[in-house]
Amino acid sequence: MRSLWRIPRLLVAVVLLVVACGDDGGSAAPDTTLSAAAEEGREIAQQYGCMSCHSVDGRDGVGPSWAGVFGTEVELDDGTTVVADEEYMTTAIVDPNAQIRAGYRGIMPERQLDPAEVEAIVTYLRELGPDEAAS
Ligand code: HEC
Repeated sequence: MRSLWRIPRLLVAVVLLVVACGDDGGSAAPDTTLSAAAEEGREIAQQYGCMSCHSVDGRDGVGPSWAGVFGTEVELDDGTTVVADEEYMTTAIVDPNAQIRAGYRGIMPERQLDPAEVEAIVTYLRELGPDEAAS
């Protein structure tokens, strides 16, 4: 029976190693609840270092968390409220200072992403949103 314990312990060691090596502190293990397109978006976002400012667990960092935002109403610093839909998220990525979330500073760097990359990230954001947003 003792040898059976070796396998899980090895797995834990591997997982810890993978997490520790992630350059952005985010989880490096593939998230199996995501569609293939969203998983691609997650990888792209990680590559570009987006997760150094955006968490996916609801905790706000330098930027707002990506968890549960898509499809909900967000407040902008000019006092207006908008729905964080595909268009809003796309603009937020390609032209970060066009609309600034209330309570945040417009310090998000502008990155040259190609449209397919932006689309994949937006798909990821949609799948991170509350369930209603998926419909
Ligand atoms: C230096 C920190 C930083 C980095 C890196 C960063 N962002 Fe942001 N991001 C912010 C801040 C701050 C805001 C809120 C202010 C604003 O609306 O611009 C924001 C807002 C957003 C929003 C709107 C979210 C919402 O809830 O309204 C999206 C989408 C977004 N970022 C995507 C990205 C993507 C994709 C990347 C990687 C290519 C990225 N960000 C990298 C700081 C960052």
